Amino acid sequence: MTFAIKPFAACLGAEIIGIDLAEPLPADDFARVHRAHLDHLIIVFRNQSLTPEQQIAFSRRFGPLDRHPSDQASLDGHPEILVVSTRKENGKYIGLPDAGPKWHSDLSYVKTPALGSMLYALEVPDHGGNTGFANMYDAYETLPGDLRAALDGRRAIFLPGRAQKGGADFKIGFSAEQKERVPPVAHPVFRTHPETRRKSVFANPQHTIGIEGMAESESEPLLQRLFEHCAQPRFTYRHKWRPGDMVFWDNRCALHIADLSRIGDPAYRRHMHRTTIMGDVPF
Ligand code: SIN
Repeated sequence: MTFAIKPFAACLGAEIIGIDLAEPLPADDFARVHRAHLDHLIIVFRNQSLTPEQQIAFSRRFGPLDRHPSDQASLDGHPEILVVSTRKENGKYIGLPDAGPKWHSDLSYVKTPALGSMLYALEVPDHGGNTGFANMYDAYETLPGDLRAALDGRRAIFLPGRAQKGGADFKIGFSAEQKERVPPVAHPVFRTHPETRRKSVFANPQHTIGIEGMAESESEPLLQRLFEHCAQPRFTYRHKWRPGDMVFWDNRCALHIADLSRIGDPAYRRHMHRTTIMGDVPF
């Protein structure tokens, strides 16, 4: 198949032009797509028309799929698909309307955080609801020396939501039983990508609640400096969604954030399907 890989002007991201993801991808094309994902951290496929089965089949080419702990937000009959949606049925959200309020990496609060996520847009608002992505290789490579020295070799502690120290901060919160399934876990603050072998920052302001073996009075200022460093516009790309977009990001070396500023506006409608590919234990 002939297709093109067009890198964005930002320090991450590329559009892949000329692939219909509804069709099975031959092995050599898949290898190019896989390479593009490693090189550009996020890849964008426009104008797709995918059934849940087709999205699941393409996602599985990259590895087994994970299930989000918020199982009440999964698609009926397809537990591998997390519904990210502002739609309501009988007064209740049918999915997560506010996934990603802060910079984060998906499932960074489990033992084997996600390799990557694919978000497929079925309905998008005319404005707002963009998703920001940030390059954590670049963030790592440009860290101020004292901050790098203070955090090097350290492990950060993760929970589903920072506010979950006191209670979940999402519109669809975790039940007590769901929280029990995701106890605090520690990962290296700086991880090595298992495929590219490059180092990146792995802590994030949505899920990282502290540093192992450090008092909060010491860890919190360090983490705040780290988070501010990682969110600098020079490391980011903002995706303006169109219906039919499929965006696939690498959670091992990129953070993302959803623009939720229009949540609550009845004219704001956004409906997406996310599949999440299982990763391995960070090192
Ligand atoms: C997510 O964090 O997976 C969702 C991002 C978005 O809704 O833009």
